[in-house]
Amino acid sequence: MKSRSSARPRVGIVGLGYMGLATGLAFAAHGLPVFGYDLKPEIRSAVARGTAPYQEAGLERLLRAEVRSGRFRVVESPQEVVEHAEGIFFCVPTPSLPSGRIDLRPLKRSAQEFGRALRQGKGYRLLVVKSTVVPGTTENVVAPIVERVSGRSPREVGVASNPEFLAEGTMVKDSLRPDRIVIGTSDRRALAWLRRAYRPFGAPVLPLTPAGAELVKYSSNAFLALKVSFANEIARLADRLGVDIDDIMAAVGHDPRIGARFLRAGPGFGGSCFEKDLRAFVRWSTDLGVHLRSGEATLRINAEQLAYVLAQVRAGVGPLAGKRIALLGLAFKAGTDDVRESRALLLAHELLNAGAILRGHDPVAGGNFLRQWDSTHAPGTPRPEVFDSLAEALEGADAAILQADWPAYARWLPSWSRRMKTPLLFDLRRATDLARARRAGLDVVGLGAGQRRSSTGPSLLPAGP
Ligand SMILES: NC(=O)c1ccc[n+]([C@@H]2O[C@H](COP(=O)([O-])OP(=O)(O)OC[C@H]3O[C@@H](n4cnc5c(N)ncnc54)[C@H](O)[C@@H]3O)[C@@H](O)[C@H]2O)c1
Repeated sequence: MKSRSSARPRVGIVGLGYMGLATGLAFAAHGLPVFGYDLKPEIRSAVARGTAPYQEAGLERLLRAEVRSGRFRVVESPQEVVEHAEGIFFCVPTPSLPSGRIDLRPLKRSAQEFGRALRQGKGYRLLVVKSTVVPGTTENVVAPIVERVSGRSPREVGVASNPEFLAEGTMVKDSLRPDRIVIGTSDRRALAWLRRAYRPFGAPVLPLTPAGAELVKYSSNAFLALKVSFANEIARLADRLGVDIDDIMAAVGHDPRIGARFLRAGPGFGGSCFEKDLRAFVRWSTDLGVHLRSGEATLRINAEQLAYVLAQVRAGVGPLAGKRIALLGLAFKAGTDDVRESRALLLAHELLNAGAILRGHDPVAGGNFLRQWDSTHAPGTPRPEVFDSLAEALEGADAAILQADWPAYARWLPSWSRRMKTPLLFDLRRATDLARARRAGLDVVGLGAGQRRSSTGPSLLPAGP
């Protein structure tokens, strides 16, 4: 890409997690000098060496290239970020509290650290909240902390909201070529700086107020999650009617007013964003006196979808006690090693509680899955086994459940079926090539494919009066 130039906006990234690293690398790849900082020394040193702490298509290659080019540098303190960068993006976590409300402690801590770092500084600096936050956070939480701690005026230190819309699994591509840039600020200088920083991306810039930009992010996630839950609810009808949800949603989504993306039935949404953001959005709205019924229903349908999947498995396998179940795909979706809120964790928990023996496999997420499992389950409680080899996970299985659609699973091999005691696959992502699976001696139950295997209800809806 383009060579380094001191005239280019200089970017600081605070928090080199999934989102921050991809965001920083995208700026670097578009020719901007980037200075990345993370609280954790092990993340700083891995990234500085050009080793990606996360598995994502293209991430490590881009990291190595940008570290080598000198455009992406890791620094050791907030002070160093402030010295080098003009626009500093907060990419720190915003997890859920037990109440569902957003936990702003990491962001407040960052605001304080950077407030302190800014005390001695000179020249304009812009602090950009890129983490997903409830509306009002940038103006009412971050700005006052920075102003108080730094002792500098809003004319010297601007604030802006600039939410991020990338999706894990495609985060390198998404951050290099975003479809829109949403900027929330009431500071004209901040808007001008951000427009300049984002110019090489060639995406439309949508200026809003800070609270407006924050509301765009929550609304986008709520709507995408709603599409998933809608498809999941209709899938239950499709199963009753003996029609295929994929055909139905393809036809529904053909309407450009609706759009087919995210209208896919599956085991329910997981991942680090949808659940926590929707819970925070619902709580925040309720606190304001506005009941977000669509958000509440989306979350309820998502929880029910797990029970629906388990009922299908029970209908196919019978009582689960002592049954060997292979769980394929442990990440929350294919293309990432992120297991946060993965449906595989919930499925494993429920299956083990029902007495099944669980044998998991994932091309990249096995280690993260077990670490997450161990951090949420007491020692001595039943634990899934995780195998590097798919064939080993399938050995002697009474059934397999495909939870994440890694491409390898679509290429089902006869030798895999032969490993199983009963070659029965519950395909929760509709990923397997059915003709190929049949040739491989596999019996596939597709979620929402309209194959009735149990007496869970009438096959056709009752006629009207
Ligand atoms: N992951 C995604 O796909 C995605 C997409 C869009 C938006 N977001 C939002 O981005 C934010 C970050 O998400 P993530 O998935 O990258 O989280 P993450 O947990 O992967 O990474 C966060 C990083 O911030 C670091 N950190 C925490 N406090 C810090 C501090 N005070 N100073 C410096 N570093 C600090 C942590 O060590 C960690 O490495 C969240 O608000 C999330 O909702 C995430």
